Amino acid sequence: MYGEHRRHELRPLATVSRSSPSTVLFNRPVRETNPLKWAAFYSCGLATRAPQEIMPDDTAVDVPKIAEVPIVYRHEWNSHLLSIRIARDDTYRFRPGQFARIGLKDETGETIWRAYSIVSAPQQPFLEFFLVVLPGGKFSARVAKLGTGDKILLERPAQGFLTLDRFADGEDLWLIGTGTGLAPYISMLRDASTWTRFNNIVISLSVRESCDLAYVEEIEALAASHNAGEAKLHFVKSLTREPDAAAAANVLHGRLTTLTESGELEKHAGLKFDHTKSRFMLCGNPEMVEAMRAILKARGFAMNRRLTPGHIIVENYW
Ligand SMILES: Cc1cc2nc3c(=O)[nH]c(=O)nc-3n(C[C@H](O)[C@H](O)[C@H](O)COP(=O)(O)OP(=O)(O)OC[C@H]3O[C@@H](n4cnc5c(N)ncnc54)[C@H](O)[C@@H]3O)c2cc1C
Ligand SMILES: NC(=O)c1ccc[n+]([C@@H]2O[C@H](COP(=O)([O-])OP(=O)(O)OC[C@H]3O[C@@H](n4cnc5c(N)ncnc54)[C@H](OP(=O)(O)O)[C@@H]3O)[C@@H](O)[C@H]2O)c1
Repeated sequence: MYGEHRRHELRPLATVSRSSPSTVLFNRPVRETNPLKWAAFYSCGLATRAPQEIMPDDTAVDVPKIAEVPIVYRHEWNSHLLSIRIARDDTYRFRPGQFARIGLKDETGETIWRAYSIVSAPQQPFLEFFLVVLPGGKFSARVAKLGTGDKILLERPAQGFLTLDRFADGEDLWLIGTGTGLAPYISMLRDASTWTRFNNIVISLSVRESCDLAYVEEIEALAASHNAGEAKLHFVKSLTREPDAAAAANVLHGRLTTLTESGELEKHAGLKFDHTKSRFMLCGNPEMVEAMRAILKARGFAMNRRLTPGHIIVENYW
């Protein structure tokens, strides 16, 4: 079931050949993977239904909970950051911001499962993940050794609550992340509906070193390609362990918590936190998530809870 993509007959075909790992794919016609272009196809009638209409809930679909799926693409950003794509069956459904559990057997035959945020958009015919390869990491060090064609286990359904539908309202979306905590935000940006939901989207990302800045070209291309009437994207990057490189690249230096307290984050985003407009997502290092949550709380922002709408939704990676 997983080796062959059953593709949606409603999606337009396009040949994609670009250098960013999120777009370089196959030397053959593939479906348009850029949600903005998809939206353009849709609006000019080449596609007849919006992506969300062809991605209904899969609760009625009778499929095995665990499947073995091949890696169809891999890209090493540096020695410790890796993106992989695995084949995706149409029946695997998710919302941007959710995570999948993927698994590998260890030498004793026991399966190691780990959660990974899904980087790809629901309209894309693969599942993409962005992984840090941890020295001695039980799972990540194993994945790093796999190549295209190798198989990993995928559990369904997708899980998680770091999803935009949990915010009832809001105009400015602050997507705050550390390291691989960027992953779920890429999925949101690749999904055209995010761009019509908010007036402003701020990606605030801190990494240790400049070589850890992944997906930058794609984010900048998306920022440049938004149309009038869609959200404006503000991209604030910070390097925490390379002050000279930060200065040379004209990006911030320092932790997002420090930059928030000093006002630098708002200044560089060109937007003020606002109780009526601002909605925050925090993802990645749990110490950052906790510290940032406390800073926002002190400024009068509240956690979004199931029965009590608020400003903040979080995802801790460990
Ligand atoms: C909901 C959820 C989503 C996740 N999404 C991602 C993702 O998109 N990409 C990703 O790389 N990881 C993600 N993780 C973490 C992932 O599940 C694994 O924990 C991680 O890959 C390490 O697994 P490991 O077995 O190699 O090392 P482990 O032995 O599990 O981890 C060793 C230590 O490494 C540190 N660590 C773990 N994950 C990270 C990380 N992502 N960045 C920095 N330090 C870390 C922690 O200190 C941890 O105790 C997510 C975790 C959760 C709960
Ligand atoms: N060269 C290498 O081999 C290399 C390089 C990077 C990572 N790694 C490995 O990858 C692992 C994960 O590293 P990572 O960089 O992906 O994740 P990380 O340690 O969580 O760091 C990611 C970002 O989060 C920031 N941060 C950490 N704690 C914070 C807090 N309490 N408040 C606010 N910000 C905080 C970091 O700033 P600070 O820099 O100030 O902590 C950094 O900018 C490391 O443990 C290491 O094993 C290896």
